[in-house]
Amino acid sequence: MPIPTRILVVGSGGREHALARALARSPLASEVVVAPGNAGTHAPGADGVAPIRRAALASLDPDDVVALAIAEGAGLVVIGPEAPLCAGVVDALEAAHVLAYGPRKDAAILEGSKAFLKRFATRHGIPTAAYAIVTTMDEAEAVLRDRGAPIVVKADGLCGGKGVVVASTVEEAREALHAMIVERRFGEAGATVILEEVLRGEEASVHAVTDGERMIVLPTARDHKRVFDGDRGPNTGGMGAYAPAPLVSGALADRVLREILRPTIDGMRAEGRTFRGTLFAGIMVSPEGDPWLLEHNVRFGDPECEALMAVLDGDVAALCASAARGALDADAVRVSERHALAVVLAAAGYPAAPRTGDPITGIDRAAEVPGVAVLHAGTADRDGATVTAGGRVLAVTATAATMAEAREIAYRAVEAIEFEGCQFRRDIGGAAPGG
Ligand code: AMP
Ligand code: GLY
Repeated sequence: MPIPTRILVVGSGGREHALARALARSPLASEVVVAPGNAGTHAPGADGVAPIRRAALASLDPDDVVALAIAEGAGLVVIGPEAPLCAGVVDALEAAHVLAYGPRKDAAILEGSKAFLKRFATRHGIPTAAYAIVTTMDEAEAVLRDRGAPIVVKADGLCGGKGVVVASTVEEAREALHAMIVERRFGEAGATVILEEVLRGEEASVHAVTDGERMIVLPTARDHKRVFDGDRGPNTGGMGAYAPAPLVSGALADRVLREILRPTIDGMRAEGRTFRGTLFAGIMVSPEGDPWLLEHNVRFGDPECEALMAVLDGDVAALCASAARGALDADAVRVSERHALAVVLAAAGYPAAPRTGDPITGIDRAAEVPGVAVLHAGTADRDGATVTAGGRVLAVTATAATMAEAREIAYRAVEAIEFEGCQFRRDIGGAAPGG
């Protein structure tokens, strides 16, 4: 039995709150520290559950994360968001002899460069939309003349979820291209642009935890990206999620494994970019029932992670530590029979211009609903009160024997919470058959 250690979780969203709670249930954890965390990332320990504490973090830059990990004596660091991974935080932690869960910089490029991803998919025969990569308006115009609209315009680099435009007309595509290539709205991240065929179908989020060779595939999750009910309004980071999602199961799940996840992990290893950590494939299931890769992310989805952590039993810290060491312990966790659903409560003005500083009431009452965990995202403490501090404020996550029940109790808990301008979707999990 290894000696319990302090585990550091880097990030501040609902994803990191969910990870912290899961890690705290591990016998490997003496304490879980979340940095920079949010108003919810602290809890006293209990029988079999390590305490959770928040720590300040100057920035998510590798140097600051390493300094904190050393100051805290962390035995394992789990990185939530993509930006520090793409900046090389795992390389920096490893250089300082700290065990870190997540891909190194050379593997995080799967999310950090969409041009890399597209070329990689072509090299390894992974099904993905037809594309062209351009760096000038002249090149882009030639593609538009050839392919016309609708067409997808994607900035190559990280744009905080704002770098993809599904353009229904050539004019709209041209505007998006101009903003990226000429105006440099996303800086260097938009200097290279991918023009891509529009795929139709239903989207799913398939997560695998891998040590670079072995993997365990987690239950399929579905995210609701648009801000309003019925998938209307602008895209967001995600307004809710549920797992397991029947859309990708059985034979289709086998195809996702065989045609997308396995060639990705093996291809990265073969190219000398061994991928360790969470590989999150964004899949489009075509009307014919075929899986296509839309994107790879190199970390857990948010809010998918909130639902996924709720359906796993076992030791998430042992899973992460073993993957980080390159010796995956696939038996560390088991997928339960439970269903989980997370409803995001967002601030007024989200996603364009979220308002902050509004007092939140009812969190404790919501958390008393059996089966419910109120996970914090954009929250802060102000004079002893919890106030809104970001676009996505809370992820109310319910776990139950059926999806219908999980949805019912999640929304019962949501009713208890109030803050000025609170917005949430009433149709999360609405597409789940039998639920
Ligand atoms: P990405 O960051 O590449 O996943 O793009 C974000 C979102 O844009 C996806 O979740 C899809 O909803 C949409 N999208 C991206 N690529 C395509 C495509 N080729 N066809 C249709 N929709 C797409
Ligand atoms: N919810 C989608 C993402 O985290 O990218």
